[in-house]
Amino acid sequence: MSDKLIIFDTTLRDGEQSPGASMTRDEKLRIARQLERLRVDVIEAGFAASSNGDFEAVKTIADHIKDSTVCSLARANDRDISRAAEALAGANRARIHTFIATSPLHMEKKLRMSPDQVFEQAKLAVRFARNLCGDIEFSPEDGYRSEPDFCAGCEAVIAEGATTINIPDTVGYAIPELYGEFIRNLRERVPNSDKAIWSVHCHNDLGMAVANSLAGVKIGGARQIECTINGLGERAGNCALEEVVMAIRTRRDHFGLEVGIDTTQIMPASRMVSQTTGFVVQPNKAVVGANAFAHASGIHQDGVLKARDTYEIMRAEDVGWAANKIVLGKLSGRNAFKQRLQELGIELESEGEINAAFTRFKDLADRKSEIFDEDIIALVSDESVTAVKEHFRLISLAQRSETGERPQASVTLAIGDAEHSVHSEGNGPVDASLRAIESVVQSGAEMLLYSVNAITSGSTESQGEVTVRLQHGGRVVNGVGADPDIVVASAKAYLSALNKLHSNTERVAAQG
Ligand code: KIV
Ligand code: ZN
Repeated sequence: MSDKLIIFDTTLRDGEQSPGASMTRDEKLRIARQLERLRVDVIEAGFAASSNGDFEAVKTIADHIKDSTVCSLARANDRDISRAAEALAGANRARIHTFIATSPLHMEKKLRMSPDQVFEQAKLAVRFARNLCGDIEFSPEDGYRSEPDFCAGCEAVIAEGATTINIPDTVGYAIPELYGEFIRNLRERVPNSDKAIWSVHCHNDLGMAVANSLAGVKIGGARQIECTINGLGERAGNCALEEVVMAIRTRRDHFGLEVGIDTTQIMPASRMVSQTTGFVVQPNKAVVGANAFAHASGIHQDGVLKARDTYEIMRAEDVGWAANKIVLGKLSGRNAFKQRLQELGIELESEGEINAAFTRFKDLADRKSEIFDEDIIALVSDESVTAVKEHFRLISLAQRSETGERPQASVTLAIGDAEHSVHSEGNGPVDASLRAIESVVQSGAEMLLYSVNAITSGSTESQGEVTVRLQHGGRVVNGVGADPDIVVASAKAYLSALNKLHSNTERVAAQG
């Protein structure tokens, strides 16, 4: 049996299904590029048939990603599968992932189909897909709650050419030992099981997605794990890539398996996903939380200073936690800046984007004496750097607040080519600024989330990073803005969200 464990990342598909986590095509491409740097084996880029936006996102990723296999989800019908194949046409390596529910509950109540009808449809779907693509994954949705007779169905889809069989614990109901045995039983009972790679896909409703996935590998013999960065996903999320990968690597003595992941890219990936979706990582989250490597107690600190492995089972630098480095300052030139972008694995599309980023960097360096890697990452994520023309753009902001007085803000912004200056009062300076913007834009959007984080911890000199989540007309978008002044960061975040609401075509709809 192979000792290679395939890492299948579904941040851009299952992760994106998390309410409020929808991403634009460009955001998805940026994350896909980071996943490629992380060296994930398979990137599930979306669900091509679910919307034109999702089709475009899968297509763009398939056209740009060279090293990882690019995959699209498809229901088990010819239309979905054809659409997936069309979106994946430009990929170096493509995979179609087709699924249909097989648990008695789902077949009866959701599909209103008999088991025979479901398995016949699965067989036909895999046969159809196999004529379009050599790499086919089949998932019996809610597989963990399916009856043992679905072995025959697995045998049939393998016979039709499915190369991976993925057993989802769709509702996060599994327990590690039971899930591991479930996979082992299946593999033992399906006569042609050796013709496919078995895969695990666990949701985290009982907080056991990572443990279940590991049991599926260790007890069940699965050789693919489906996971997402930061465990992003519907409800309580999916199996977290960073945790499962570091468990396999740190406990190689137990698992005896190899993963191809460049673990030093884990932190940049975690930050990028958190920043793009506005889903903040909890400080005590394993591997990527701010406290994951912080030793606060005296006994621990003393031990770590004497010998790191007294209290450290992994090294922070191995997962990409660089000590906050002062990388550049006011006097740094364009070449130094460009080189640092390269070292951080940031690829800007054109010289124009590099120039725009450099201008923003100079502007920041004028106001902030120390520029850290995190500042640079936030800076290049700013929409004013990318080639996309912003419809709403902040020109200037002045605000006044004093104890006992009602705060006020004056904002000048560009809407298309016209400039507007507006003034408003509010409960606080942020409220006054956003009210001023809203008084001229009149979006009518409802704010679902407003959150502020320090980009680099430990000092009030840090840039503030603000996430705003807006809802309008059934759409939910996130806007992110960074600035040493959190009121300005808030205005930028608000305008960024308004820009996304404005550009309908950019939006990628979640799975329907
Ligand atoms: O959780 C699930 O069942 C899924 C399938 C579509 C694979 O995400
Ligand atoms: Zn899922």
